Amino acid sequence: MAKTWFEWHDLYNTEPKLQQRLQIVREYIWNAIDASPPGKIRVVSLCAGDGRDLLGTLASHPRKNDVYGRLVELNPQLADRGKASVESAGLSNQLEFINGDASNSSNYIGVAPADIVIVCGIFGNLADEAELRRLIGNLPLLAKKGSFALWTRGHSDGVAYSDTVRRVFQEKEFEEVNFQLTLTGDMGVGVHRYLGEGLPLAENQQLFEFSGVPDKYRSVSIAAN
Ligand SMILES: C[S@@+](CC[C@H](N)C(=O)[O-])C[C@H]1O[C@@H](n2cnc3c(N)ncnc32)[C@H](O)[C@@H]1O
Repeated sequence: MAKTWFEWHDLYNTEPKLQQRLQIVREYIWNAIDASPPGKIRVVSLCAGDGRDLLGTLASHPRKNDVYGRLVELNPQLADRGKASVESAGLSNQLEFINGDASNSSNYIGVAPADIVIVCGIFGNLADEAELRRLIGNLPLLAKKGSFALWTRGHSDGVAYSDTVRRVFQEKEFEEVNFQLTLTGDMGVGVHRYLGEGLPLAENQQLFEFSGVPDKYRSVSIAAN
């Protein structure tokens, strides 16, 4: 059982659900980059972990030199690993890996509004639907009109939580581009396109509260991340 978020990332080595989720997320990031207009593509990743989704995609993407942005992660070990990956990929001039609080709007100043917003591994760590609505409702502070939001949401106890996420996105001016469940059947991955005009980004606004803990994750039954 993972005691820290750093340990939680080891589950990528053994858990089919997480491996399949990563594969789909990378495919959707790849497609979002492909669909972005020529020129700079700005990306923000909230609660980025070690950034393996974005960095793994950029490793072979022909437009990797167009991608600029910021990844925000609270766990210092994960942020260090992410920074090392950015450096070894030769992307230090384009991507910043910040060890900071992704729920604080100040951490996106200078990079938002983005063309791609990655919110993976967060929705299952929010207290309730009201908090989900707050976070999705705040994404227009970070997202350009026409931008892509990528997300994941696990199912548990027979509840298809990703259905709620899809409904809330739709209510908040996001159009679904793609959605699929992992082959394990209990992890939803989606990409939505923002149709609105965006909202001004102010300093020190709390966008959401991440209240989940890493040890709730079980390989078979509980998978709310
Ligand atoms: C379920 S993991 C997902 C990591 C990554 N996005 C992925 O999909 O592999 C959740 C991550 O959120 C990070 N986290 C939790 N609260 C945070 C906060 N307030 N700001 C930034 N990161 C946070 C944790 O340290 C952890 O790495």
